[in-house]
Amino acid sequence: MKKVDIDWENLGFTYIKTDLRYLSYWKNGAWDAGVMTEDNQVHISEGSTALHYGQTAFEGLKAYRCKDDSINLFRADENAKRLQDSCRRLLMPEVPTDVFIKACVDVVKANEHFIPPYGTGGTLYLRPYIVGVGNNIGVNPAPEYLFSVFCMPVGAYFKGGLTPTNFVVSEYDRAAGHGTGAAKVGGNYAASLLPGEEAHQRQFSDCIYLDPITHTKIEEVGAANFFGITANNEFVTPLSPSILPSITKYSLLHLAEKRLGMIPVEGDVYINQLERFVEAGACGTAAVISPIAGIQYGEDFHVFYSETEVGPVTRKLYDELCGIQFGDKEAPEGWIIKI
Ligand SMILES: Cc1ncc(COP(=O)(O)O)c(C=O)c1O
Repeated sequence: MKKVDIDWENLGFTYIKTDLRYLSYWKNGAWDAGVMTEDNQVHISEGSTALHYGQTAFEGLKAYRCKDDSINLFRADENAKRLQDSCRRLLMPEVPTDVFIKACVDVVKANEHFIPPYGTGGTLYLRPYIVGVGNNIGVNPAPEYLFSVFCMPVGAYFKGGLTPTNFVVSEYDRAAGHGTGAAKVGGNYAASLLPGEEAHQRQFSDCIYLDPITHTKIEEVGAANFFGITANNEFVTPLSPSILPSITKYSLLHLAEKRLGMIPVEGDVYINQLERFVEAGACGTAAVISPIAGIQYGEDFHVFYSETEVGPVTRKLYDELCGIQFGDKEAPEGWIIKI
């Protein structure tokens, strides 16, 4: 295997160009065969709907280096389905699940030397995306589309890994009540840049968004879902049509019930009832599990388990999830593609 000069132990969540990416075009009603290319630049028409009207959707998933040197790709079929949902919402052509998975597997194989070694905590992050391209000017679906998958080695998304950090409730909405919050589309993230920046300026890890209709319930923690643990052994996550259905969150709901004997609950999480929870965290592919130390809501600062220590249930969930992803624990059927 080729060698690359990367400090695996100190990876952040930053762009690194790797060797090859997958690239495919949709024209005249069909996807072409797709190619692997070294080119990391996108050459598109100035009229592309992606540039003006936000006709873009993307995904994020990871490949993990296991102890025996094999590679695990985690729940890629779920990412394929979610991308199809996002495409339907933005009137873009869907990429079939088998094409999506093959593109991901090919990109992992072609960039195998960029997968951080087992034990460093690093992973190979894959970024599939679809954008509307081709000559256009009106607010219409694009005449052509581009689907690509690229990848890079990453470390922790929120600085600190399993060290708890603080979050602040935003006064902005991330998505509209009946808008695109459940789709992984570019516009949601453009809208989140200013609230995120304001949270960072106030020394918070990120902001927490409330539901856009009543502003009383927690929806998202930056680009991650929220979970709380109650003293009654419940694993609670918000349920709402404007939340992105996190694959990590659904994996944790399953593991909490089947492996930790907890009660999985999807329901309302009122911002004025945080004392319900003995522990809380953010979860997502990039965030993995990031314990929440405290939440600032107006003048009030609510601390969950501890401002410095991760709680015992959050740690168990983290160990279970990462154990499966890195191949140290048995995975539920269908969760892992071995490469
Ligand atoms: C807004 C938002 N919520 C939640 C998540 C977590 O989703 P997943 O666990 O599928 O990565 C992400 C990341 O994909 C996200 O961007």
